[in-house]
Amino acid sequence: MRVFVTGGAGFIGSHTLVQLLRQNAEVTAFDNYSNSSPVALARVKRLAQSDLSSVEGDICNRAALETAMRAAKPDAVIHFAGLKAVGESSEKPLSYYKNNIAGSIALLETMDAVGCRNIVFSSSATVYDPAKAAPFTEEDPLGAVNPYGRTKQFIEEIIRDWAAANSDASAAILRYFNPVGAHVSGDIGEDPVGIPNNLMPFIARVAAGSLPRLQVFGGDYPTSDGTGARDYIHVEDLASAHLAALKYAATVKGCDVFNIGTGRSTTVLEMLHAFEQACGKAIAYRITERRAGDVASSVADVSKAKRILGWQAKYDVADMCQSSWNWQSRNPKGYDNGQ
Ligand SMILES: NC(=O)c1ccc[n+]([C@@H]2O[C@H](COP(=O)([O-])OP(=O)(O)OC[C@H]3O[C@@H](n4cnc5c(N)ncnc54)[C@H](O)[C@@H]3O)[C@@H](O)[C@H]2O)c1
Repeated sequence: MRVFVTGGAGFIGSHTLVQLLRQNAEVTAFDNYSNSSPVALARVKRLAQSDLSSVEGDICNRAALETAMRAAKPDAVIHFAGLKAVGESSEKPLSYYKNNIAGSIALLETMDAVGCRNIVFSSSATVYDPAKAAPFTEEDPLGAVNPYGRTKQFIEEIIRDWAAANSDASAAILRYFNPVGAHVSGDIGEDPVGIPNNLMPFIARVAAGSLPRLQVFGGDYPTSDGTGARDYIHVEDLASAHLAALKYAATVKGCDVFNIGTGRSTTVLEMLHAFEQACGKAIAYRITERRAGDVASSVADVSKAKRILGWQAKYDVADMCQSSWNWQSRNPKGYDNGQ
């Protein structure tokens, strides 16, 4: 199978590439490296002991996309490329709408032009209306509360309309919950630019001594210990969900949507203590005010992915922390360490 992967050098993309290559897929990674490094692709090749094609380009550049896709002749596209920082999306909404939505439209147009009708799309749990209590099922009302989440919500609708207009099209929309962890080798992992927005890379940097302490936003939520609870999913499990979704998209026409999580809830303090176990150090933290836009709890109902894709998560929070610490301690400067 030939697979065209937008955003393939990123955190989730790189882990998915390794699994695709190990299944003997022919892969083209298309990335503008705005939030990643080509070093990740070199490491992917080494880990998978297999080659891939990589093209530096922007999904908003329709001509560049078409040239790359005509050369790749893909059977399917996995669409990871996008900007993903929730806070930044409120400061620069137009950048997010342009990059994520205009880029996705250009991608679908290019797929039409080259006759590729299968897509797996990276959506997010942020599309759900937080007024509904977790766990979220795929039928729950949508109501993203920030521009990033709204880009995902709008792209979902665009893909649904595209699939409805093309009887031979197949689209699997995956709503990820909270991806964390790293490849067991410690060679690829999450390498955020600047100060991390997400909990796990932040904890990892405190453990490594490059940040002084974790700021825990809110200690008075209605959860077991008052801190926010999330459904964390190991990036290796998330990668395998894409392979299951590709298999599904190869046989079933139309558009369907799947939650990708574990169905288990972990609070910030539980995650912090699990990380302390993994790294063998105490991690300093301070509980501060709640952060605007955060919800008390976000957990997936994962029964649909199990029923229809035949996929479920294997890894637990200890695995997530262990692999994340392994990546952080072997790569204190992320991919700046080089090959
Ligand atoms: N990591 C999460 O917490 C999370 C949760 C839910 C959904 N998602 C979605 O999953 C996808 C992958 O996330 P990730 O964590 O791997 O992020 P990431 O930033 O590591 O990867 C995204 C990749 O897309 C590339 N990219 C961005 N804009 C591009 C453009 N215009 N043209 C070409 N390449 C472009 C970046 O350089 C990067 O390599 C994103 O769409 C993200 O919104 C991520």
